[in-house]
Amino acid sequence: MYSKKCSRLFFRLLTESTFRFTLIRNVSSSSKSVRSLCSWTVCRNYRQRNQLSNGLPRLNLRTVSQTTLDPAEVRKFQAMASKWWDLQGEFAALHSMNDLRVPFIRDNLLNVHGVQQLGKPLAELRILDVGCGGGLLSEPLGRLGADVLGIDPVEDSVRTAEMHSSYDPNLRERVCYQACTLEELAEEEAEGFHAVIASEVVEHLADLDAFASCCRQVLKPGGSLFITTINKTNLSYTLGIVAAEQLLRIVPSGTHDWEKFISPEDLERLLESSGFYVEAIRGMMYNPLTGVWSWQKSTAINYALHAIKRKEEPQPEQTWAESENLDKPGQAPSYS
Ligand SMILES: C[S@@+](CC[C@H](N)C(=O)[O-])C[C@H]1O[C@@H](n2cnc3c(N)ncnc32)[C@H](O)[C@@H]1O
Repeated sequence: MYSKKCSRLFFRLLTESTFRFTLIRNVSSSSKSVRSLCSWTVCRNYRQRNQLSNGLPRLNLRTVSQTTLDPAEVRKFQAMASKWWDLQGEFAALHSMNDLRVPFIRDNLLNVHGVQQLGKPLAELRILDVGCGGGLLSEPLGRLGADVLGIDPVEDSVRTAEMHSSYDPNLRERVCYQACTLEELAEEEAEGFHAVIASEVVEHLADLDAFASCCRQVLKPGGSLFITTINKTNLSYTLGIVAAEQLLRIVPSGTHDWEKFISPEDLERLLESSGFYVEAIRGMMYNPLTGVWSWQKSTAINYALHAIKRKEEPQPEQTWAESENLDKPGQAPSYS
């Protein structure tokens, strides 16, 4: 009964909503084995140094406003830490999202860096997967040849990720996990990554400015930042919280807080002021009846974003148009 009602609600909302059109902008270090990845100073003894007895990370000497960590969010994911690889469970929609986000990341990275090795298109690229959870996205990126470090503040999720990737001998060579926050990593690892990924993570953070500034710190100049998240619209509230959490129970009730959602325009502004320029934004939508994600012209519900770290330091007084010419000689960005 619920599912019929919900299907009707779902499709009515879709057809009635006025979709805003997506902005789509026209937009190497030597290969390291996982042994060298895991021997990075930053990885060493992280768990021992940063964990309290309650399993939550100890915060460094930052004020609360400078941490990305929201303890309530950490508790939510702690409760689900053993469920990451249940294909029919709470994270089913994230498994299915790989069909879109993995090619999105791969193709945008190939545009920036070119193919390094046939069959392993992301070989020689170091990727940081922030908020990796159980490694649902880290694993396929490792299979594409990237050296991936997945970090998450929930230690039990990191254990789940480690356990799961250990079953695949190819991943043991490529993927490494650590229980820590981005800000902790940023204090020790400067400009080390070709790409940072935060997929379905920014809506769970306490401080987005701190997040963007840490991303900039850990990225190489010209490095890529990939974000997927939920827009802050009435439609995303109705579908993402009322339908997905309360009616269809695709994800547990209370997983999302609408106040923390961010529109693509606000996210772009924030990233620009943190020293990035946004290369692409694409709308995405999940169909709960088929369990399949698709690209959409509209960003009204979910979207994926690709931003690039500017080579020069952010200049607060610089306008967008001025700074655009510094980084991208030639044409101004085009929009479609
Ligand atoms: C919806 S899950 C997404 C997991 C993974 N990125 C994926 O898409 O499969 C959100 C993840 O963000 C993590 N998280 C929450 N607060 C975080 C923070 N301050 N820094 C990094 N990760 C955080 C949670 O523990 C959880 O694993």
